[in-house]
Amino acid sequence: MNRTQRATLGGKLSAVLVAAGSSVGLGNIWRFPYVAGNNGGGAFLAIYILCVLVLGLPLMIAEFTVGRASHRNAVGAYRALDNKWSFLGYNGVLAAFLILGFYFVVSGWTAEYMVHSVTAELAQYTTAEEYAGMFERFIRNPWRPLLYTSVFVLATHFVIALGVQKGIERSAKVLMPLLFIILIALAIHSLLMPSGAEGLKFFLLPDFSKVTAATVLTALGQAFFSLSIGIGTMVTYASYFKPETNLRHTALNVTILDTLVAVLAGIMIFPAVFSAGIEPSSGPSLVFITLPGIFNGMPLSMVWSSVFFLLLVVAALTSTISLHEVITVYLHEEWHLSRRGAAWTTTGGTLALAALASLSLGILDGWRICGLNLFDSLDYVTANILLPVDGFFTCIFVGWRLDPKVLEAEITNQGRLNFRIRRIFAVLLRYLCPAVLLLVFLDNLGVF
Ligand code: TRP
Repeated sequence: MNRTQRATLGGKLSAVLVAAGSSVGLGNIWRFPYVAGNNGGGAFLAIYILCVLVLGLPLMIAEFTVGRASHRNAVGAYRALDNKWSFLGYNGVLAAFLILGFYFVVSGWTAEYMVHSVTAELAQYTTAEEYAGMFERFIRNPWRPLLYTSVFVLATHFVIALGVQKGIERSAKVLMPLLFIILIALAIHSLLMPSGAEGLKFFLLPDFSKVTAATVLTALGQAFFSLSIGIGTMVTYASYFKPETNLRHTALNVTILDTLVAVLAGIMIFPAVFSAGIEPSSGPSLVFITLPGIFNGMPLSMVWSSVFFLLLVVAALTSTISLHEVITVYLHEEWHLSRRGAAWTTTGGTLALAALASLSLGILDGWRICGLNLFDSLDYVTANILLPVDGFFTCIFVGWRLDPKVLEAEITNQGRLNFRIRRIFAVLLRYLCPAVLLLVFLDNLGVF
């Protein structure tokens, strides 16, 4: 495919906003607070930030390099650089499909909770048990989650169908600033609550006595999921970057924004949790069960609740868009479908998978894959297998196999930029990242 036929993103800010749109998602606002709460709060945060900077950042730069050096979809990109490595692209497209299978379902829940906050239906319960019961009934219902998931899938489709510039870029430019405004307002509101300081202490003061090897591995997995690395999303987005885009600065900005959102989400959630006297380690249901209960005890509760779930919807949408694009542009460029046809095929396929995943929490609960229902297996297989494997091989490919001239040319924009941290970058990418990833992977398989 001719380079000039492909879409490119606008200025410097567009590259950052679009990539940050992918990174910032349910991973930051739904997953991060409960994982941090389960793993000791402040100490987890410290280790998480270390993982982001030492491992996540170099890998994001590596993915950007592959994307912009080839100007192709994830499969085409690896194939263009080295035919033997196209399996990494296929792994990415497959992982994007499987992640969307459960991500769309959770996104649908956030949309339903937003609607129920606006209509004040969520305000009719009081105790945590009632909220838990409501959540259980909702996710087990065969129709309602499907309805909201379909709406969410169609919203994603709509943006993708508009194209890279008019759809992806424009939506990121509107949604990302909106997300920050809401998040900052909610964090300030939360800090002003009665036991706000206690929650903040739990989150920001590290207690390293609770740290184990498992904490480090959990932090790493969370960092990769949150940054959207390990499955070709960043390869795909970087294929639209301009020649002038500074890959290192873009990666650094995206990493900082993503971490900032996770920290703000923690600042928003822990003081609220402590004010209500709830354990911070209540797990994945923190956002859907604990928080509505907390909101309910506050003045103007449904306003805050609506705004909070709107925040989740916005965060989820910019991420589902990025995952959808990985598959759409692959079908478009490799299978020569029209962009519209490719988008519809992706939408149809992911909706079918998401529908099955959603039903697997209710009437299809009997279908088990190695003991897990479909929803949980999709989460498990992607986060614990496909993501670390892809990350590991990306390090090996970019660090050892790729022509160093290509890497140098992309990082320095054909020699126009300095590359002073060359040595450190090489050590991280060639040795440290693959070694740590291998450990994570083996640990996930239960070798240790
Ligand atoms: N990073 C997003 C989040 O935090 C989810 C996501 C989008 C993702 N693209 C990805 C996760 C690629 C892993 C790989 O919610």
